Amino acid sequence: MSSLSGRCVLVGVTGGIAAYKSADLVRRLIEHGAMVRVAMTASAVQFISPLTLQSVSGQPVHDALLDIDSETAMSHIELARWADQIIVAPATADFIARLATGLADDLLSTLCLATQAQIAIAPAMNHVMWDNPATQENIATLRDRGVDILGPDTGSQACGETGPGRMVEPEALLRWLTSQTDDQLLTGLSVLVTAGPTWEALDPVRGLTNQSSGKMGYAVAIAALKAGAKVNLISGPTALSSPPGVPTCRVTTALDMLSAVDAQVSDVDIFVSVAAVSDYRPEAHQTQKIKKHAASFNLELVRNPDILATVAGRSSPPFTVGFAAETDEPVAQARRKLEAKKVDLMVANQVGGENSPFGRDDNALILVESQSETDLGRGSKQALAQCLVREIASRYHAKYSAPGS
Ligand code: CTP
Repeated sequence: MSSLSGRCVLVGVTGGIAAYKSADLVRRLIEHGAMVRVAMTASAVQFISPLTLQSVSGQPVHDALLDIDSETAMSHIELARWADQIIVAPATADFIARLATGLADDLLSTLCLATQAQIAIAPAMNHVMWDNPATQENIATLRDRGVDILGPDTGSQACGETGPGRMVEPEALLRWLTSQTDDQLLTGLSVLVTAGPTWEALDPVRGLTNQSSGKMGYAVAIAALKAGAKVNLISGPTALSSPPGVPTCRVTTALDMLSAVDAQVSDVDIFVSVAAVSDYRPEAHQTQKIKKHAASFNLELVRNPDILATVAGRSSPPFTVGFAAETDEPVAQARRKLEAKKVDLMVANQVGGENSPFGRDDNALILVESQSETDLGRGSKQALAQCLVREIASRYHAKYSAPGS
């Protein structure tokens, strides 16, 4: 039985030359046991006939927000709820911009806004349009919101030019969709993730914080959700939106983060501490803006509690994973923290220098245990998070299915 059996996949088709490939995608999904519905934009209809997609899917094709004529009509809200996964292939530059902006002026954009299903897009356009900063910013926005960006491939294009912009082939899209459901490694488990920086106010204007964007922690939360876990996220101040399907508690200070973790951790199987927690906070928080009267100024700081060590020190702790951000000797420092905080797994990443991960979409991670290291290499934060979740799952299951555990 295929891992797509019984999965409700909504295929969105937008108006590009590659739209003819969507019929092949629909056919392959059905062969693998998925239940498929198709939603087309008005311009997609210029490239491929709805009748073709109706024939291969065996279902009426949806193309209007108010589908009132058909007896089998599903409202856009019903369709949005029905889907387990939405894949828009091809996704034009125009559709990507509308999705990034949150427009809901046709059926497909409305579905994407109204769904809690995972959304993936397979961009297809001329390579100059793909490279345009406007498109790249839209892609970065969508990626930050947890949308999976599949491709594009590089090669010769319908316009006669060569470059990145070809839609990923249906076979590869199918492989990706299958891999998403193969990985139900955390089904039945509950995962708590912390992410982002903390902010320790000095006065109403200023504070102590750090460069963490929260992207790595949010990616870990999304990857754990995709692996079947029930996931909760506790986030310091970030510019990121809460990942769909992940209840997110927003906090400001390290003490707030500790209280939120304390309130949620007792029912948790796995705790992943990705947050860059401030080690110190100002001893006093001034209620009025500090004025520059004095020639020099001493700031009295007090230690914040260590949230990860507090969780690992509980009488019955969850499986605990920490991140070690280091400028020097990341593996040795991570191992020192692994032992000092008594956690199950430490993830080392090098910070500082030109490859520093802060704010970027890629990272390089090394898993550190007492006797061994596993280098996950460099990749997008999304791909690394997926890999990390797989590694955590295998260690969790090894620990708790061992005799006498
Ligand atoms: N951490 C935490 N609470 C703190 C400080 C850190 O929970 N007050 C967690 C982080 O989320 C991370 C791990 O501990 O998972 C290591 O954090 P890091 O900042 O690399 O190290 P520190 O323990 O703070 O040590 P140092 O700053 O001396 O490197």
